[in-house]
Amino acid sequence: MPVFMNEEEKELIQIGPATPSGEVFRRYWLPVEVSANLGGKPGSFPGFNNPLRVRVLSEDLVLFRDGSGKPSLLAEHCSHRGTSLLYGRVEENCLRCLYHGWAYDGEGNVIDTPAEPPGSNLKHTVRHPSYPCFEVAGLIFAYLGPQDKIPPFPRYEELFREDGVRLTGNGGRIQKSPAFLQTLDNVLDVWHRDILHGWFKGMPPRTTLHWGQNGEPASPLKYERSPWGAYYIYIANTPKAGVYHYHETHAVFPCVRHVGGSGKGLHWAVPIDDHTTRWFSVSFHPTVDSHPQTDVAQSLLDPRPMDGHANLPDDWVEQVGRWWNLGHPWRQGQIWEDEVAMGTQGDPAHDGFPDWERWHLGTSDRGMMLNHQLWREQIDRVREGLDPIGIIRGHAAEELIRVPAAQFHLGFDEAMRLFNMSLEDRIAEFSHATPHSAGPRVAEPTVRR
Ligand code: FES
Ligand SMILES: [Fe+2]
Repeated sequence: MPVFMNEEEKELIQIGPATPSGEVFRRYWLPVEVSANLGGKPGSFPGFNNPLRVRVLSEDLVLFRDGSGKPSLLAEHCSHRGTSLLYGRVEENCLRCLYHGWAYDGEGNVIDTPAEPPGSNLKHTVRHPSYPCFEVAGLIFAYLGPQDKIPPFPRYEELFREDGVRLTGNGGRIQKSPAFLQTLDNVLDVWHRDILHGWFKGMPPRTTLHWGQNGEPASPLKYERSPWGAYYIYIANTPKAGVYHYHETHAVFPCVRHVGGSGKGLHWAVPIDDHTTRWFSVSFHPTVDSHPQTDVAQSLLDPRPMDGHANLPDDWVEQVGRWWNLGHPWRQGQIWEDEVAMGTQGDPAHDGFPDWERWHLGTSDRGMMLNHQLWREQIDRVREGLDPIGIIRGHAAEELIRVPAAQFHLGFDEAMRLFNMSLEDRIAEFSHATPHSAGPRVAEPTVRR
């Protein structure tokens, strides 16, 4: 029984080394761990959790922080005879294998082979696989692609701005889904909002986004391409007459859900392997009159980890049970519904991968179709030796990247003014729209959907 329906599907669902989608991922900087989880900062060197095993894009790696505080990422298995470097010893300038003491610096150079005779040349003949790292905003990023294609680190404003409070998640949300693309399709899936996250939590059937109701025309909704990927904007009804919800969410390649609200932020869905994704998140909350916004203060008091269910058993979704079990303490925020919706899309007859030939797509699936189209285009670009979408080089790479993700409560005309504005004009408009200066707009708290 073939695992894949056709070659095209196969290209879109595997992310290991030398796979087409895997090569696309390997042209971007990806978060691989949360700084706080690695520990071992200068002063507490080498730290309790140092080194750490991380699995990224189906590669087993070991992350360590040397005495200078710099994080480094090496292939897990020792180049001598394969022992895991997870059990190695972190020293001032290296990670030393416990078996025969081979010592590796952060670039994968073998700097000591203590069991070899003096003058041995062996260490100069070996280069251990390693990947460059960059640490910012409480996250450690790595670039797993070819050195001659390495791009400058992308300067998203939420990672670099200093005029506010930054909240970094704990990396504890591990999501199982048939393929990484399912998770990214969901970023551009507008219509599940009212249904999955409302109706199936005991709220009324879909009403805020509609195809025409109570004499109103259909809710304004559009999907468009951006310099980084794609986005949607919709204008939804709210319980208040005359107040509308302007919602703009961006899918930023390769795997970022960029959401607006008073804490605008990036949520990366980084594939651990073909069936598992790990979420990392950073949100940035600009200060208002030198004070944090009230919802940030609430977030800091909230005992729930930012990224949800750390330390839950692998089968926690099954243990929580069916839809009526709304009060289960493991159901946290919006996560449970999305996990079930995506996690059950696989087909056991296809080794758990989705069987796309049995799906029936409609008008509401336009975001997903755009996502697939974009992925096919990036696969082609990478094959041709070009940068995929969103890679910025040269002087332009020094500028902050301002993705105009936003959520506002507005009157209909004002919402439509933004809806019809060009992307460039919205970037300019939103970069001045702090919650304080936005006039009648009320920025909504970030909602995880
Ligand atoms: S296996 Fe690592 S030093 Fe021998
Ligand atoms: Fe969702």
